[in-house]
Amino acid sequence: MKAVIFDLDGVICFTDKYHYIAWKKLADKEGIYFDETINNRLRGVSRMDSLDIILEKATKKYSQAEKEDMAAEKNATYVELLKEMSPSDLSDEVRGTLNELRNRGYKLAIGSSSKNTKMILGQLGLGDFFDAISDGTNITKSKPDPEVFLKAAEFIGESPANCLVVEDAKAGIQAAYAGGFESAGLGEATEHPNVTYKLKSFKDLLEVCK
Ligand code: BG6
Ligand code: MG
Repeated sequence: MKAVIFDLDGVICFTDKYHYIAWKKLADKEGIYFDETINNRLRGVSRMDSLDIILEKATKKYSQAEKEDMAAEKNATYVELLKEMSPSDLSDEVRGTLNELRNRGYKLAIGSSSKNTKMILGQLGLGDFFDAISDGTNITKSKPDPEVFLKAAEFIGESPANCLVVEDAKAGIQAAYAGGFESAGLGEATEHPNVTYKLKSFKDLLEVCK
């Protein structure tokens, strides 16, 4: 293993809770049932595909233009929450593990479906940290398609066989597997049948990447 490709939301930082708050606000306004279980299905899934999952519980049909307005409204709420983030939102465990992996010589990249990736990394003080960033702005298909990770591997000049993907989403483990990557899962991603390593905590990566 020569490189590690990290998902962002739910792995490097806990923006997953802000996604939930922003979608919940929109769903409540529209009178659509939404809960944490549905929210878990949105992990790793693009903004528009996430909206389609939420609208499975809607009683009316929405036009494409209405859907685009709703996605923009959710993103505006989300971005307001992101503005409150700072380097103190990066845990000591994540910071320490990233630094140790760098010291051990691994190339480090991001593979996230989010179009807000660069803003989030900037808020966390990680704007210049990673060797490459592959995110929602350079892909056409979101996880479980492997495109975001294949692009990350290409950006750092490594083959998938030399890269470990770190994910909290089942869709992300599926994407890694489809792309020929080994994966390390956190949280519910450990339940995916194709996950290579099950992590209890982020720092367990130091046992996998010696
Ligand atoms: C992923 C999140 O990282 O990014 C998903 O896990 C989210 O929940 C997706 O829908 C897209 O994010 P954004 O910031 O482009 O709306
Ligand atoms: Mg995630």
